[in-house]
Amino acid sequence: MKVLGVVAKTHDSGIALVDDGVPELIFEEERFNRVKKTKKFPKQSLAAARADFELSIADVDVITTPWDVRQLRRTASRLLMRRFPLSLSLLLPSAHDSQQNQIMVLNSYLRHGLSKSFECTTLPPIVNVGHHDSHAAVFFVSPFEEALVLVMDGYGDDSSSSAYLGRGTRLERNWSTEIMNSLGLVYTFVTQHLGFAGFGDEGKVMALAAFGSSTYVNRFRDVIRSTADGSYAVDMSYFSYDTFGQLRPFSRKFLDTFGHARRPDEPLTDRHRDLAFALQTVTEEVILNRVRSLLKQYPVRDLCMSGGVALNCVANAKVLEATDVRRVWVPPCASDTGAPFGSALWHTHQTLGLPRRFELTHPYYGRAYKDEEIVRALEAEGLRYHRLPTAQLLRRVAKDLADGKIIGWFQDRFEMGPRALGNRSILADPRRTEMRDELNDRVKKREPFRPFAPVVLAEKASEYFEVSQADPFMTLAPRVRTDKQGVIPAAVHVDGTGRIQTIDRAANAKYYGLIEEFARLTGVPVLLNTSFNRKEPIVAAPKDAIACYLLSGIDVLVLGDYYTTDRRGRAEEAQAVPAAALGAQATAIAPASQN
Ligand SMILES: [Fe+2]
Repeated sequence: MKVLGVVAKTHDSGIALVDDGVPELIFEEERFNRVKKTKKFPKQSLAAARADFELSIADVDVITTPWDVRQLRRTASRLLMRRFPLSLSLLLPSAHDSQQNQIMVLNSYLRHGLSKSFECTTLPPIVNVGHHDSHAAVFFVSPFEEALVLVMDGYGDDSSSSAYLGRGTRLERNWSTEIMNSLGLVYTFVTQHLGFAGFGDEGKVMALAAFGSSTYVNRFRDVIRSTADGSYAVDMSYFSYDTFGQLRPFSRKFLDTFGHARRPDEPLTDRHRDLAFALQTVTEEVILNRVRSLLKQYPVRDLCMSGGVALNCVANAKVLEATDVRRVWVPPCASDTGAPFGSALWHTHQTLGLPRRFELTHPYYGRAYKDEEIVRALEAEGLRYHRLPTAQLLRRVAKDLADGKIIGWFQDRFEMGPRALGNRSILADPRRTEMRDELNDRVKKREPFRPFAPVVLAEKASEYFEVSQADPFMTLAPRVRTDKQGVIPAAVHVDGTGRIQTIDRAANAKYYGLIEEFARLTGVPVLLNTSFNRKEPIVAAPKDAIACYLLSGIDVLVLGDYYTTDRRGRAEEAQAVPAAALGAQATAIAPASQN
């Protein structure tokens, strides 16, 4: 049973091809069209699937999409009627930037786009899967036979938060909230209020929160109230997003209580930090209250979390630390980046009842690029490079890292989801306190308060972090052990936490091998890992990686087994490594042409 999941017209458009519940590819369109969180039809993803996997429409049994359009229409008309005629402004495209109006005729739109992409007139049936059902369906590729599943996002087609009980190939929804009673939307709108981009920059507010104090916490508990039955209630007297959407999300009461919105260029003050702190604190309280209540209700101790709110790794770590949950599992594509995959999984297991035979243990289901493509891209820029045997490459790069160099690391298939997890990463030495500023000044150009994440060999994780389980997808932010905070200072956030990724050899032998080499040289089995990009989407193709390298202060670029420090005769050329220094086995290759 081959299912093609497709998202279009809402943020994070993309595709997933799933065969009997096993993913073959998961592509986000933004990686190809280079527009963050794009809503465009995923035609480049489909073209890549056709080119790399020889995907033909004849091979696809069913097409799924993670929106129940009928339900969505019912929800939309109810919302319009509720505050009519003021709510008519909800129809304006700028009132719901993350979702285009064509979502209401999604299936026709998909039919049109797919027919064009596959150059065919007949398509397999298109099946609409509920939005939260699609998020929840990641349970089917989790390590659990039985688990609680908590889904929280901005909104789905009928709700903004849902809970399920998952058993084998069955998921049963046992709780949901009204669509505008949305923890996710409140987080997003407060993110905007603080001068960042909603639907994308929520992680910045999570990081900023660590610098705040409790000034507004009690007042914010009035904004979102945890209820005794394990649910929560957003006090809509603070908001008007149910009437005006993004055009005017807050009421006068919110502005009077928490102050005016910050312009993006305005300096951050204690007021902003304290509001971020209050939002994060109350978000954690709401999630903990929900989880504790579910644990009381069901004798199950494992928990899957999905939906955009599950990207809040600080809250996820609190769940593990402060409740009776035994294990937390969050997929790398918890946001809508995982919705095409989830819709295909729901159809496969829940609807058709096919047995589960797959566990998601790594995130590398993106596109890979052949050596010829890497060489062509390097030569197109006129860069000198060397091809090194893998073992030698790992030793060389580990030494560079230990010497304080910043590495652009590009390998094999790119990751699904919003985080770079070792195949499209920028890597650096976590032992150097100054490395955070260097990464920011020379490469990332991002807000100085944001932390850089540590990646650690799985078997060493508990030596460095207060964590009792693996976290291969960077979904938890546990405390760094006190005695290790001085060892990896660049990886420790101001609140003493680190957003870890644990890595084992089976998931990514080359990445693991590199950290192992670094540990052999330095005694520290940890690296700093940040996504391979600056402001644009994470790089996909070699040419994207080369462009990012040339525009930034990355010292060394590694594409597959190809190693370069050449910068086309710019000032940094002095950093180029002579072939002799790379060892006798290195193959030095001159470019075909120099620019
Ligand atoms: Fe969602």
